[in-house]
Amino acid sequence: MSKVALKKNGVLRLISAKFYSVEDWEYFVNMRRELIKLKDDRLNLQAVLERKTKELKIEFKKRAEIEQKLVVLEQEVAKLERFNVIGQLAAGLGHEVRNPLTTIRGFLQMLQNKEDLHTYKSYFDLMIEELDRANLIISDFLSLAKNKPSEFTRQCLNKLLENLYPLLQADAYSQGKKCVFEPGDIAELDIDPNEITQLVLNLARNGLDAMREDGCLTINTFMDGRYIVLSVRDEGKGIDTKNLLKLGTPFFTTKENGTGLGLPMCYSIADKHNALIDVKTGPDGTTFSVRFPHPDLMTMEIGQ
Ligand SMILES: Nc1ncnc2c1ncn2[C@@H]1O[C@H](COP(=O)(O)OP(=O)(O)OP(=O)(O)O)[C@@H](O)[C@H]1O
Ligand SMILES: [Mg+2]
Repeated sequence: MSKVALKKNGVLRLISAKFYSVEDWEYFVNMRRELIKLKDDRLNLQAVLERKTKELKIEFKKRAEIEQKLVVLEQEVAKLERFNVIGQLAAGLGHEVRNPLTTIRGFLQMLQNKEDLHTYKSYFDLMIEELDRANLIISDFLSLAKNKPSEFTRQCLNKLLENLYPLLQADAYSQGKKCVFEPGDIAELDIDPNEITQLVLNLARNGLDAMREDGCLTINTFMDGRYIVLSVRDEGKGIDTKNLLKLGTPFFTTKENGTGLGLPMCYSIADKHNALIDVKTGPDGTTFSVRFPHPDLMTMEIGQ
C-alpha cells in the first residue's frame, strides 16, 4: 500500500509505501533507480541540445559573415575586371591624345607672346591652363594603367603617415576643417612608400571634400587579427547606395572638377599590396579601411 500527494505543478509525489514482499520492494527500488536515470538523461539531453543550438548559432553567424565577405569580393573582382578593360582602351587613347595636345600648347605659348595678340593674353592663359589640366589627367591615368612595378620596402605605416600628417593638416586647415592622426600599435609592412602616399592623399582628399566646414577627418591605424588596417574616416553625409557600386570605376565622379581617377588609383595600389579596401558609409560619414595582410601571413600562404 502507498500514499501519494499531489503537488502544485500536478506531479504526484510518494509520501510513504508499504511492501508485501521483498520482490515488490526490489521492483520498487529498481523503478526509482530507472526514474532517476531517466531524469539525468533528460538533463544531459537538454544540455547537449543547448550546446548544439549555441554551436549552430555561431555557425550561422560565421556563414553570414563569409557570405557578406564573398559579396564584397565579388564586387571587388567585377570592379577590377571593368577597370582592366577600360584601362587598356584609355591608356592607348591617352597616348595618342597627348601628342597633339603638346603641339597645340607649344603654338599657344608662341602666339601668347606676340605683341599684336596681347589683348587676348587672358584667353591664352586659360587655354594653356586647361591643356595642362587635361595633360595631368592623362598622366594620372597612364600611371594607373601602366602598372609600373612597385618598389616594396619593409617599414611602419605610422612613420609614413607621420611624415604626411603636416601636409594633410594644412590641407584640412585651408578648408576650415580638422585632421587627426591616431597611430595604433601595428606591425611593419612591405609597402611602396610613393604609392601608399598617393593612396592616403586620395582617400584623405575625398574625405575632406565630403565634409562641411568644422568637419574632422580621422586617420588611424590598428591591428585586426592578422591584418594591419589603415582607416580614413570623415564626417561627411555619406555615399548614396546607387553610387556605392560605382566607386573605383574610372571617371566616375560627382564633383564639378573631379576626374574620377582618385579611387581607381587607390584600388589599384591596394591590389598591388594584396590589400582590400572596404567602405562603410552612412548619414554621419564614411570610413574607407585598407586592410593589409600581415607580411608573415603572406609568406605562410605562399608556402602552403
Ligand atoms: N569619403 C567620401 N564621401 C563621399 N563620397 C565620396 C567619398 N569618397 C569618394 N566619394 C565619391 O566617389 C566619387 C569618386 O571618387 P574619386 O576619388 O575616384 O574621384 P573624385 O574625387 O571625384 O575625383 P579625383 O580624380 O579628383 O579624385 C567622388 O566623386 C564622390 O562622389
Ligand atoms: Mg578623389
